[in-house]
Amino acid sequence: MKGIILAGGSGTRLYPITISVSKQLLPVYDKPMIYYPLSVLMLAGINEILFITTPHDQESFRKLLGDGSDLGCKFEYAVQNEPNGLAEAFIIGEEFIGDDKVALALGDNIFYGNEFGSLLRSKINVEGASIFAYPVRDPQRYGVVEFDKDKKVISIEEKPEVPKSKYAVPGLYFYDNKVVEYAKKVEPSDRGEKEISTINEMYLEAGELEVGVMTRGMTWFDTGTVESLDDASEFIRVLQNRQSTMIGCIEEVAHQRGFIFKSGLQKSIDRYGKSKYGAYLKDIVANL
Ligand code: TTP
Repeated sequence: MKGIILAGGSGTRLYPITISVSKQLLPVYDKPMIYYPLSVLMLAGINEILFITTPHDQESFRKLLGDGSDLGCKFEYAVQNEPNGLAEAFIIGEEFIGDDKVALALGDNIFYGNEFGSLLRSKINVEGASIFAYPVRDPQRYGVVEFDKDKKVISIEEKPEVPKSKYAVPGLYFYDNKVVEYAKKVEPSDRGEKEISTINEMYLEAGELEVGVMTRGMTWFDTGTVESLDDASEFIRVLQNRQSTMIGCIEEVAHQRGFIFKSGLQKSIDRYGKSKYGAYLKDIVANL
């Protein structure tokens, strides 16, 4: 399975912060936002990843992440010229995806929870589509899933004015190769975007959509507003300081998944200078 991280968009809800800087490069406590979704895909065992950015931000992402070889990964980059919607990721990424299955992570979504790694790894052989649902207080901001009393999915609606449930779809999706053909059939919505909810509806109609409900053991943040960005930073700060483990440390995940070994970890330490992040990596190496 390959991975795509969608890190374009306009970030208008964070203006003026994101007028000249990509949202996905902003700090979430002690590391750039993109580290979190990247660590999630890597945790799933995926090491071939395409980053889709705006044309003017691509250089900054390349500077930060390079070709992925330091992490035992293969990173590629592509641009989305206009924020035409999430479904466009599979059209831009068609060649990269080739004949494989693909996971899409939104660059501004953060996940944390017990047994999350094994949950992710159970998705990489997906047939059809596998997405999640998470109960939130403001479902109208998201794709909303409606279930019947047996927890069978009845509908998916993008940003409905009157949501049929409290279950929002988080920005992490697993698809088989049909997603590329489905994406080509998506027509722009009333707000002018090619919606990922339309792709999910296509899978639903074909009887091939699996929706896993994330329970209270999981935490999900979308960091698109000033409040949620601040909340996410605070959450990471409190948890990391209490538990003395890092969330979203990409080198640690690369080592845990067997993409790199001790020597690779050692090599990455220099890059992080005198930061706490660098000290954390040093600690890991010292304890191996
Ligand atoms: P959104 O938060 O829905 O949109 P945005 O980032 O453009 O922000 P705003 O609404 O404040 O203007 O996007 C969710 C994620 O998907 C985010 O990481 C940006 C990314 N994205 C793209 O890469 N391309 C797109 O066409 C869209 C709509 C979003």
